[in-house]
Amino acid sequence: MSNIANILEAQLDTISLRQLSAISAVANSRGVKAYLVGGAVRDALLGLPVHDIDITVVGLTLCVAQNLADALGGVIVARSQFNTFAVDAPDRRLDFAMARQETYQQPGALPTVSPGTLRQELARRDFAVNAMAVSLNAESWGELHDPLHGMDDLRDGVIRVLHDGSFADDATRILRAVRYAERLGFRLDANTARLAMQDTAYICTISGARLRDEFVRVLSEGRAVSILEMLNNLGALQAIHRSITLDACGLAALRRAAADYADKPTLLLSILAYDMTSADKADFIRRLRLPSRLAQIITDTGLAKSRVRHDPSSDVLSRSEIYMRLRALDETAVLGCSLREENSIVGRRLTLYLDELRYIKPVLDGDDLIALGVPQGRLIGELLNDLLKARLDGQVKTRQDEIDFTLSYQSCPSC
Ligand code: CTP
Repeated sequence: MSNIANILEAQLDTISLRQLSAISAVANSRGVKAYLVGGAVRDALLGLPVHDIDITVVGLTLCVAQNLADALGGVIVARSQFNTFAVDAPDRRLDFAMARQETYQQPGALPTVSPGTLRQELARRDFAVNAMAVSLNAESWGELHDPLHGMDDLRDGVIRVLHDGSFADDATRILRAVRYAERLGFRLDANTARLAMQDTAYICTISGARLRDEFVRVLSEGRAVSILEMLNNLGALQAIHRSITLDACGLAALRRAAADYADKPTLLLSILAYDMTSADKADFIRRLRLPSRLAQIITDTGLAKSRVRHDPSSDVLSRSEIYMRLRALDETAVLGCSLREENSIVGRRLTLYLDELRYIKPVLDGDDLIALGVPQGRLIGELLNDLLKARLDGQVKTRQDEIDFTLSYQSCPSC
């Protein structure tokens, strides 16, 4: 068994190393075995920064978890039915889990869990590269446990499931497999790729919240567009929702968005939602239990498209009309729609709004209008709105123009 203490010491920051040695002390004093597991081990071995610390303890109980939290100067903030504990320690949060074995009664269902050995704990995981553990007990500090040959896969650049039923048990792993492959520059091994394609239908067995979390993680990855493309090729995007389509135009828009803009996850979502019908949008939002901000983006993408739609029979929209039709909409949705829009007139309207119109404001404010003699009340709001329209349409250009506009407005008999 190899010892990777030197790698851990090189890859983990001082805070994490201090936390691991506190965990080590508790494990020794309580006579339990504690291990660093999962992504932290994978990333340390790859020489990548380690973000999350996940600890598995064989025979973890509430009492031991409490000892661990105390030793870290933290508090247990969450406990699950499977004896997993989230501990908020100063500087960062750690997750502790009891080593367990799992059996799935039916695809997508939560597994039946019972205490297990380290080997059983590793065997229940998604991929071999995520199924390695490093001992934290003093006498074996740094020993690497790799019964499923994750090191070989790291060396070969391969994402490999641990058994043929893995995706049927938990189809979120299809998204995870592609996410890791793209992130790490790996490939799916032949059997894993075959199973991923064969098992996309199991995605419908996953709860909305779990599917949403994995989908948002996909959209948040640096190589999100390549992941979406690969999921599309596997048939997994359509299994997430039948209305997600990814043709060449959609793909090009996603690429532009990823290359040129921040706040990428929401922008990508908007582009994916562009072609959905209203009924599909509502169903997609329901299926993935999307929070209100994401639901809003999806809904507003459709509205942006329809509100400045090109109607050849009656089509002249003034600059102020374009602004008024779009101003209440989420700006990410308008941007997503503009990146995806193929009709050049509609595209120009959206771009005009984004690049110019949304920044235009009258110079005068409510106080200025009162100083000019406008009575307080509803008229101030109306006048500011009309001033804005006049600015947008180029009817007023200077402060003096706005003052003149205000004075003539007041003398207008209809006001
Ligand atoms: N895991 C799993 N099956 C899942 C989700 C997670 O087996 N459906 C296991 C994997 O061993 C994974 C660990 O739980 O390494 C922690 O999961 P997560 O935090 O989602 O992944 P990380 O590996 O930490 O990856 P990331 O870098 O994406 O956070």
